[in-house]
Amino acid sequence: MNNDSLIQEIRNKVDIVDIIGSRIPLVKRGKNFFGVCPFHDDTSPSLCVSREKQIYTCFSCHATGNVYTFLMNYDSMSFPEVLSYLGDMVGVDTKGVKVKKRDTKYDKYYDIYSLATKYFQNNLSSEVGSNARKYLNSRGIDDKIIKQFEIGLSLKTSDDLTKLLSKKYDLVDLNKIGLSNDTHDIYNDRIMFPLYDTQGRVVGYSGRIYTDGKENKYVNTKETPIFKKGECLYHYHIAKEEARIKKSVIVMEGFMDVIRASTIGINNTIALMGTALTQEQINLIKRLSNNIILCLDGDSAGKKAAYKNGELFMKEGIEVKIVTLPNDDDPDSYILKEGKESFISYIENAVRYNDYKINAMKENVNFNSAEETSMYINKVLSEIVNIDDEIRIEIILKKLAKDYNIEYNTLEKRFLELKKDVQKEEVKYEIKRASTGRKSKYRKAIEQVIYFMVTNEKVISEVSREKLIITDEDARILVKEIIYYYEKYGTINIADFITYLSDKEKLSISFNNILNSGYTEEVDKETLYLYFKVIREEVVKKQIEVLGKRLKEEIDPVKQALIANEIAKLRIGELNNGWGNYYIWRKKKQITYIR
Ligand code: CTP
Ligand code: MN
Repeated sequence: MNNDSLIQEIRNKVDIVDIIGSRIPLVKRGKNFFGVCPFHDDTSPSLCVSREKQIYTCFSCHATGNVYTFLMNYDSMSFPEVLSYLGDMVGVDTKGVKVKKRDTKYDKYYDIYSLATKYFQNNLSSEVGSNARKYLNSRGIDDKIIKQFEIGLSLKTSDDLTKLLSKKYDLVDLNKIGLSNDTHDIYNDRIMFPLYDTQGRVVGYSGRIYTDGKENKYVNTKETPIFKKGECLYHYHIAKEEARIKKSVIVMEGFMDVIRASTIGINNTIALMGTALTQEQINLIKRLSNNIILCLDGDSAGKKAAYKNGELFMKEGIEVKIVTLPNDDDPDSYILKEGKESFISYIENAVRYNDYKINAMKENVNFNSAEETSMYINKVLSEIVNIDDEIRIEIILKKLAKDYNIEYNTLEKRFLELKKDVQKEEVKYEIKRASTGRKSKYRKAIEQVIYFMVTNEKVISEVSREKLIITDEDARILVKEIIYYYEKYGTINIADFITYLSDKEKLSISFNNILNSGYTEEVDKETLYLYFKVIREEVVKKQIEVLGKRLKEEIDPVKQALIANEIAKLRIGELNNGWGNYYIWRKKKQITYIR
């Protein structure tokens, strides 16, 4: 018997409800069992254990997995330990099992980075580093912090690092991972801040100038097999533990902010490395805590980013909290100026995103004008229809009534009208909301299809047959993996697929997010084709976006016209396309579809 089927067999022979139930009290409600989640500070039972699917999911901290991951996390066992523990329990011999080794493909790269980091650290602490050290000290970064964050220094017009590393490693590799350019060092005379992956391995650097110069303030490592800027979250490996303890995670812009916060004992922090926020980053942040605080820079770019990023989290069904620092301060400069207590009170007074947004909408409104005031109030009302909390809505309405001297009943009436419209819209949407928050129509569609695939094998062949183009990478790979798994084992279930994905961290996270979003298992062909249509439309939308950008940049009027024509064609197509096999299937069923 091969390893995989043995692992599956053992999992099949134990019941996750017994295993978890013997560690924490579970109560049966409906089909599922509920308990207080051990993976975050929980008071009400948010851990749901499914006997049918043999998985657990936490509504609150999004912990998700099967019996193996539960024991690995709860009892702090390694996978082989869990396997032999459960094997003994059900009488399956696991001695011969060779557990799939961790992916060691990139180990060499991690080794190189660890050596390079030591080299840079050594530079900084030696004579050549005295000016850089002075600079850091002048910013209040002392030796202890330098050591804690493994800060180093690259040397002026030197190729020493490449020389040193190429004694042991291939130049090709050094070039590939962004440390060397041909035989030259990439970083010259910069303070080197190591960047870590989610497991705390150094995978890149941000090199900062420390003398007045015209060059870029920061130079970051290029995209490499182990470093993807869009997935990088500085300090994530430390925040993992800290967020659990502090019950919140604070998101900042720069790593200097994170480092500064650490000097006053705040470590449940991560940095975006700028203001942009990708879907991958959102997925990662979501895992840390359900209390996410955005504390970006106080300047206008930071404010814009808070607004925009808050919205991205709302699409995931998460209402973050926002801290707006005064003036143009970033957390770093604010803490230096005003100190620990003052900063902490800012964090403690973080404002919920919807309230923040209502407040931000006030900007540039002339409240002396009745028309502008009424427009503002209508905008606020159409905003708060999305809030899922009647008490909060009432508070907001009361405040509006008071602030603008309007009858409460008038406001409430208008609010209820708007709410009805929204609800009608949602029904029209056809895609069931479940507890999937307000993700984009496309995201819901693709995630729902993936969920169908792992709960309903027939959907797998439907998806293969449709040859769908999936625009985002994570979802695309997940679909590919599901099809591969199904073809290999002839069957699929969620619990085993979780183990299969366990060495693919990114995919695991995406998949667990889907499991945690409350999608339905009930599928019929008509609904499925509707989802396929949404997925197809996204491709066209993306194509139009790309062309639109090209159109903007194009100066030649002839080429402009060609691009515009292309866009127009896509737009028309957009209306009729996307149905794929839908019509054919409909025809077979002898039903005419009327739009
Ligand atoms: N950043 C970057 N390249 C730049 C500017 C910024 O990669 N040219 C990224 C860095 O990761 C930085 C983050 O954006 O940590 C925030 O930028 P910024 O606010 O300008 O940096 P600070 O954190 O304020 O750094 P410092 O105080 O040293 O100027
Ligand atoms: Mn700064």
